[in-house]
Amino acid sequence: MTSLDRREFLLGTAATLAAGSARATGTSAPAGRRAGYGCAFNLWDLEADPGLGKAVSQYCTQVVPECELKWPMLRPSADKFSFARADAIYDFARQNGLTMRGHTLAWYHDIPDWVKQISDPRTAEQVFVDHISTVVAYYRDKLTSWDVVNEPIPDNARKPTDRRDSYWSKMLGDRWIPLAFRTAADADPSVKLAINEYDVESVKESFLAKRAAFRNLIQTLLDQGVPLHSVGLQCHLHGELEVDTDGLASFVSELRSWGLEVLVTELDVIDNQLPGDVTLRDAIVARRANDVLSAIAASGPLDSILSWGITDRHSWVSQQLPRADKLPNRPLPLDANFQPKPFMDVITKFAKVA
Ligand code: XIL
Repeated sequence: MTSLDRREFLLGTAATLAAGSARATGTSAPAGRRAGYGCAFNLWDLEADPGLGKAVSQYCTQVVPECELKWPMLRPSADKFSFARADAIYDFARQNGLTMRGHTLAWYHDIPDWVKQISDPRTAEQVFVDHISTVVAYYRDKLTSWDVVNEPIPDNARKPTDRRDSYWSKMLGDRWIPLAFRTAADADPSVKLAINEYDVESVKESFLAKRAAFRNLIQTLLDQGVPLHSVGLQCHLHGELEVDTDGLASFVSELRSWGLEVLVTELDVIDNQLPGDVTLRDAIVARRANDVLSAIAASGPLDSILSWGITDRHSWVSQQLPRADKLPNRPLPLDANFQPKPFMDVITKFAKVA
């Protein structure tokens, strides 16, 4: 593709819509879009696969960059911010009448080597604060919400006060989390600020312990007056595990009673332990998605559902959690040929067609 073709493609995939701030919600979406539904994708796939942009603009009302707002892509070096790739996704979103959310500012993972080489806590704090304030200010008034802190709880939490160890916790102590939120709020006072976590949805001892620690952290942050508005449940569901519908529903209801909004941020169903038969596999995948969305929707509105990808053609699950039998993974609402699967019917049930 020439760069002109590429630009035309990125900007013109769907009917061009509504001018005005991309943060504006409430613009009427074209027929067929699922209200509040969106997905993650990365720019390489968007550029290489014309079907992807078409599917996003056909089904979605919002997007989230899969990699382009993480530290390694934004920060090639200490003195450089590199927004071009995230901006290209933002332009795509805006030109197609989609909103965009941000992922993610502070995470134990994906910390560039030049950061990890900093061993002085004061310098680390400066870099941390500078990154968050620069990035949030750059996108001020453009995004709907930010995953400020991603995955703060360890997988093997033993008690509710457990927190994940990371470079940031080593350098800054526990206050890295409140500091991230306060810095983000200063840089964009009206964007919603979220804390995001995975493996808190299903029935398994370690998931229940992780959820208890996540709950404890959220409560502690609210007690400290930290500007936290939303809780992101990633919902990378494990196909072989039942969703803990009752426990999850009461957790979500409690979060709402604390004034928090609950977002589904990264829904997909990891199918590497499921039977190979496609019809059966798709049915189980849809059931898990239905169970988790039902539990979350039981106590209030579910205004934002994002899946981590939209088509089985492009999914982190195929790369990182392939099946032992070598059959292609099927974790997402559309199959590899962009045909809707039963999972998409579930999305449509919870995010009504406009
Ligand atoms: C994943 C991306 O999908 C991959 O392409 C990348 O290689 C690693 O990160 N939880 C998260 C996401 O919060 O940022 C992760 O995304 C998937 C798990």
